[in-house]
Amino acid sequence: MTDIKWTTNDIPDQKGRVAIITGSNSGIGFETALALAEKNAEVILAVRNQAKGDAAMDKIRTLFPNAHVVVKRLDVANLASVKDFADSFKSEFSRLDLLINNAGIMVPPYGKTVDGFELQFGTNHLGHFALTSHLFDVLKSTLKSRIVNVSSNAHKMGNLNVEDLSWEKRRYFNWKAYGDSKIANLYFTFELMRKIQDKNLDMIATSAHPGLTDTELAKSAVSRLFNKLMAQKGAMGALPTLRAATGSATKNGQYFGPSGLGEWKGYPVLVSPSNRAQDTEIARKLWAISESMTGLKFEI
Ligand SMILES: NC(=O)c1ccc[n+]([C@@H]2O[C@H](COP(=O)([O-])OP(=O)(O)OC[C@H]3O[C@@H](n4cnc5c(N)ncnc54)[C@H](OP(=O)(O)O)[C@@H]3O)[C@@H](O)[C@H]2O)c1
Repeated sequence: MTDIKWTTNDIPDQKGRVAIITGSNSGIGFETALALAEKNAEVILAVRNQAKGDAAMDKIRTLFPNAHVVVKRLDVANLASVKDFADSFKSEFSRLDLLINNAGIMVPPYGKTVDGFELQFGTNHLGHFALTSHLFDVLKSTLKSRIVNVSSNAHKMGNLNVEDLSWEKRRYFNWKAYGDSKIANLYFTFELMRKIQDKNLDMIATSAHPGLTDTELAKSAVSRLFNKLMAQKGAMGALPTLRAATGSATKNGQYFGPSGLGEWKGYPVLVSPSNRAQDTEIARKLWAISESMTGLKFEI
């Protein structure tokens, strides 16, 4: 499996399948949406900014005039918005084949979401935990549905302090908080995988990371220049997500990333999460804490 140059040509026809991609107005999310729309999926661009979402939808429709694409407002950093999005989706759609939890922010100054969570943990992990929970009934009733959580190589820096996830008792370190949010994406994936297996459900929880990809994620001029020179393009960066979401051999719990040195660039292959990311005890604890922080009981 790892020696194949997997590309969008390997995506099976997605006709009749419904996909939600969070943060799909730019970068990896946009390229993921574009590829799925090209393969005839019904694509929901779940975005926080309507104008940016409309522009992305127009771009997809210009390239693929027959594409089925809609824009829906979702702010993953706001639990009320997450619930409204899920309710609205379920009132219009009766199936959900792919939930791609992609939206993310990286290394902002210390801040909090409207619900009082540290910005990166709240956006990158808790918002997607809540979204998946709200949509789980429709995912469960859709045969062979998949959930893909977009993590990062930076998860290797992650080491959750479960006593202080909001960074109120320590000095904030933005990179460390980013790494924490990205290891949380993996804990969430693996715990979800175990729960799905325990219930013998015919669905897949998987994850991916895009290596180093030139997108809107990096905000500083230096990082932008570095990415222009060194990073792969968005379409390549989306391949691990697309392989996780549509690969015919993808299995529950697998993690995909680029094949090249250090997993920075290249075609998507199976990669290994850090040892720490495979700690089942922390994963279980994080699930319970995420339920308590979001006020949700995530029923499988
Ligand atoms: N690029 C890389 O090298 C790299 C490496 C490792 C992991 N990743 C991961 O890849 C994912 C996609 O990032 P990207 O590189 O494609 O960056 P990007 O171009 O900045 O895309 C991020 C997307 O997330 C959206 N978003 C941010 N906060 C949101 C919120 N509260 N609610 C809804 N949407 C929100 C952004 O919307 P706005 O346009 O409105 O801000 C944007 O559409 C992230 O999870 C990131 O951690 C990227």
